[in-house]
Amino acid sequence: MQTGSKEDSQRGSEPELDQPTEQRAEQTVEPSTTESQVKSMPCITFVKEDKVAFAAEGANLRFKALENGIDLYTFMGKMMTCGGYGQCGTCVVEIVEGMQNLSPRTEVEDRKLRKKPDNYRLACQALVHGAVSVVTKPGK
Ligand code: FES
Repeated sequence: MQTGSKEDSQRGSEPELDQPTEQRAEQTVEPSTTESQVKSMPCITFVKEDKVAFAAEGANLRFKALENGIDLYTFMGKMMTCGGYGQCGTCVVEIVEGMQNLSPRTEVEDRKLRKKPDNYRLACQALVHGAVSVVTKPGK
């Protein structure tokens, strides 16, 4: 009895599935974003993950990583993260290319990273202004 009604509901839902798909395709192209704007967007390459993400000018590196499913934290880092306030030092990344395209190191970074190489940054403190290549969890 219920199998018939399930089939009926599936058949009845097919036209509805087509409509949202068309709507989703339209939503991928934002009318306010021009092709030249997309080309000028900073590109973040996550080396270990072999993934490239595009960001708006001045985007926060930690936010863009998390938004793109990049795992910045070690197991202990996940337990101790401050959530992006520059207090825990667990979001350390190594910048292998494009260091000049990030905002300057903050005082917090100078303190937290004083024993690390100059190309290490706290992702939560770094703003992206151009193409960068990032190694997450450096030394792990
Ligand atoms: S998330 Fe805590 S210092 Fe970056």
